[in-house]
Amino acid sequence: MKKKILIALLIMGGFISTLSAEQSLIRISTDETDLVLSVAPDGRLYQRYLGRRLLYETDLAHFADYASTGAGGSDAAKAWEAYPGSGAEDYFEPALAVTHNDGNMTTILTCVSSETKKLNGNVAETIIRMKDKVYPIEVTLHFMAYAKENIIKTWSEIRHQEKKPVTVWRYASGMLYFENARYFLTEFSGDWAKEVHLSTQELQFGKKIMDTKLGSRAAMHTYPFFELGLDGIPRENEGDVLMGTLGWTGNFQFTFEVDNTGNLRVLSGINPYASAYELKPGEVFVTPEFIFTISACGTGKASRNMHDWAREYQLKDGKGDRLTLLNNWEATYFDFDEKKLEELMREAKSLGVDMFLLDDGWFANKYPRENDRAGLGDWEVNRSKLPNGIPHLVQSAQKAGVKFGIWIEPEMVNPKSELFEKHPEWVIRLPNRETYYFRNQLVLDLGNPAVQDYVFGVVDKIMTENPGIAYFKWDCNSPITNVYSPYLKEKQNQLYIDHVRGVYRVFERVKAKYPSLPMMLCSGGGARCDYEALKYFTEFWCSDNTDPIERLYIQWGYSHFFPVKSMAAHVTSWNKDASLKFRTDVAMMCKLGFDISLKEMDEKELAYCQGAVANYNRLKRVILDGDFYRLVSPYETNHTAVMSVCKEKNKAVLYAYDIHPRFGEKLLPVRLQGLDPAKTYKIEEINLLPGSASRMRFSGKTYSGDYLMKAGLNLFTANRISSRIIEITQQ
Ligand code: GLA
Repeated sequence: MKKKILIALLIMGGFISTLSAEQSLIRISTDETDLVLSVAPDGRLYQRYLGRRLLYETDLAHFADYASTGAGGSDAAKAWEAYPGSGAEDYFEPALAVTHNDGNMTTILTCVSSETKKLNGNVAETIIRMKDKVYPIEVTLHFMAYAKENIIKTWSEIRHQEKKPVTVWRYASGMLYFENARYFLTEFSGDWAKEVHLSTQELQFGKKIMDTKLGSRAAMHTYPFFELGLDGIPRENEGDVLMGTLGWTGNFQFTFEVDNTGNLRVLSGINPYASAYELKPGEVFVTPEFIFTISACGTGKASRNMHDWAREYQLKDGKGDRLTLLNNWEATYFDFDEKKLEELMREAKSLGVDMFLLDDGWFANKYPRENDRAGLGDWEVNRSKLPNGIPHLVQSAQKAGVKFGIWIEPEMVNPKSELFEKHPEWVIRLPNRETYYFRNQLVLDLGNPAVQDYVFGVVDKIMTENPGIAYFKWDCNSPITNVYSPYLKEKQNQLYIDHVRGVYRVFERVKAKYPSLPMMLCSGGGARCDYEALKYFTEFWCSDNTDPIERLYIQWGYSHFFPVKSMAAHVTSWNKDASLKFRTDVAMMCKLGFDISLKEMDEKELAYCQGAVANYNRLKRVILDGDFYRLVSPYETNHTAVMSVCKEKNKAVLYAYDIHPRFGEKLLPVRLQGLDPAKTYKIEEINLLPGSASRMRFSGKTYSGDYLMKAGLNLFTANRISSRIIEITQQ
């Protein structure tokens, strides 16, 4: 009878239950995934199931059948504690570890209550409250399920009422278990200008840890996301795969541990390295959000889940438009004056882009920003380069007919700056050792509220003085070095965490005051790209490496987790072996910009670029808001192809690139995806060089969606570094 009532409650959707010793099931579902937890009679919480969504509600009762089996019972293999504390009968990596006031290091959580609320037709939040029976410590687990997008995000809150602070030294955002024969992990690693390189390995007994200790430019070597193949190496269009990412702009850690029975636990959260946290009584430690999706049709579908969710719920102005731009960084570096900038503004207009973006080098007087060795921190316009100030530049842009955006790096300081002279106590650096500099700069101590005010003030002052500014590029070029916060004094173990929280406080204030200001997140290229930061940024800079060939790999990598709308890609003069058409065709796939002077183009090239920008503007909604399909991998072939299909399936843009074809290589047709098999589509090559016609036999013809997806098109050629952009329109 009890079971029936429980099932009835589950069917009704939202329910609130108070759990005592009574066993209970908690179901967290999306349209395609189920996560089932159960509370044992002793109150301990276990994960019973995680996988494809179950068809019949009545089947849930089967999980209740063995819900009474705690860890160590005959069904121990299925008794995975959902959020295990240290020191219990689980001998593997815990989700939570606390040193209590009496020095005891064990924590065993039991469930107090669970409630599921429907926030709207698509989103439901499950909140599970747990406590330790011996120590006054409480943990609340949150699960937010997005039905249509098949995304679940989870985080936890830790609080206590012991007399003195406790030390929390493990604080996972979430823990998931898998029971499969083999597990394959795809990680994304890199360095400056070598972002998101994919590699896959099979997990064996023991632990594999992916983490970072860089503090601020945290993702420079490894990225806060991963893929887990549950029935083989993760594949694009088939197989069960988990894709997970952590919303944390600092040190993160993913732990994959295969235990003695061959089961896998996946822990995600802040990296506890050098960060045992002193939590005061009543204070709440909120972990970052771990966001995951499970797909039964490979990584392609899982990526589209992420993209849809990000545009709908996470990314700043996720559903809005994006501005195309011309940036002066690679065109001028630090060497510019008003005349040069005004010329570039006119060039921006003639290209047809929306905005001119002024990069590094516009500020500081006592120690002018002539190079990267001085001036960071002094956000006053450099009077010798720009005697008429920023207001004049905003006006010039207006006159030229484009918007004006500006670069800042407000979390950093050069020792050669007035800010450093005035506030050496605002800088993270060691009082008793020689200072080590990364790009000649140091990181400001963002855990200090006075520094937060200052950093917010940088944006606020620029905006107050120049309300016409339409865009910011916010950079962060150094990891935390010389790890010592003058503000925290003897509490250095809080530095990494408090620093990131301080950064968020600033981001929050900026967003609250300037909610519709588009902003690009940059970190010496793409070393900051996580979904917490992206609440405050409309896009991020993928890499300082703008060689189009390298970009094909980098964009391929990021597209696993981020919608192309959030990925800034610029046409530059890197790799002169690649034509301007090829460079533009690569950047077209993402949020398009230029970082090149038109003087580097001949007439034909300029006309080509103008045409490409016009095409981009015309097709922007399909490119930026469509469903993204990775068709041919540059990792597996000498070519690559991707496509974006609009939600109505009546328009698509297809991109094909020949990278380095081999002599006599067999060129295979490419099967398209995402179209409606019953619709008829016209195929047309666009972005052609002025005066030239398409050499593609299919261009101008019509095909059924069925044919295009089954037989495919011969998109590739034997020409080195060549590209084609194809517009597909329902007839
Ligand atoms: C970083 C960014 C670049 C550029 C420079 C300016 O390297 O990634 O795009 O803004 O800083 O110094």
